[in-house]
Amino acid sequence: MRRKLAAGNWKMNGTGSSLSELDTLANLHPNAAVDILICPPATLLGQAAMQVSTSSVSIGAQDCHADTSGAHTGDISAEMVTDVGATAVILGHSERREDHNEDSELVRIKARAAHAAGLTAIICLGESEAQRDAANTLDIIAGQLAISTPDTATADNTVIAYEPIWAIGTGKVPTLVQIAEVHDFIREKLTSRFGPEIGNAIRLLYGGSVKPTNADDIFTVSNVDGALVGGASLKATDFSPIITALEGATI
Ligand code: PGA
Repeated sequence: MRRKLAAGNWKMNGTGSSLSELDTLANLHPNAAVDILICPPATLLGQAAMQVSTSSVSIGAQDCHADTSGAHTGDISAEMVTDVGATAVILGHSERREDHNEDSELVRIKARAAHAAGLTAIICLGESEAQRDAANTLDIIAGQLAISTPDTATADNTVIAYEPIWAIGTGKVPTLVQIAEVHDFIREKLTSRFGPEIGNAIRLLYGGSVKPTNADDIFTVSNVDGALVGGASLKATDFSPIITALEGATI
């Protein structure tokens, strides 16, 4: 009942020549049974959105400012993201939380701005290795989820991505039981806060070292509605088997 989503985060990678990957991806999945989203760096957003406008691929940003406009050198607003034809924005990625000191309060304000601009906010949560070792994972996730998710969240405008920080770019992946525990926990929190209709319809992505080799297994986990993929989304030929695995997932 939840349409699955394969989202790629290019992070600070890609120049004009990388845009051909979008054509390759669209050609490999012309009638995709899942949603496909690529989030290139801001410099490529407009060109990317124009290039995929008639294809199965959608485009998202990797961040936006909370204000609609103003004196914020170097930032882009949610309206600007919408204006160039992108439809989503990643918010609260652990690299933004770390590199730019973004906390969950700021993520919530940004998510509200994204919603007001008509964007889908992909809100990222995740514990550090030390927090997991100290058995604090669920407390951390509960806190990040409660504060980062605005009251304006609906199934159409919000996606939650669980990305354990220690699994991002490391090749380390939680066990399927560990992924299920967190995803089931997030689902329960969402249904109790937003009610069963919205809470059960918001999509939950897993992120952190998703590869063609482990995607099949990860997509069997309950309440995993797709993936947020970094490194393996840069090349269409790496991302494509992940999309195919998601299309084949039965749960
Ligand atoms: P990775 O990144 O797939 O390279 O581990 C995931 C992410 O940060 O979204």
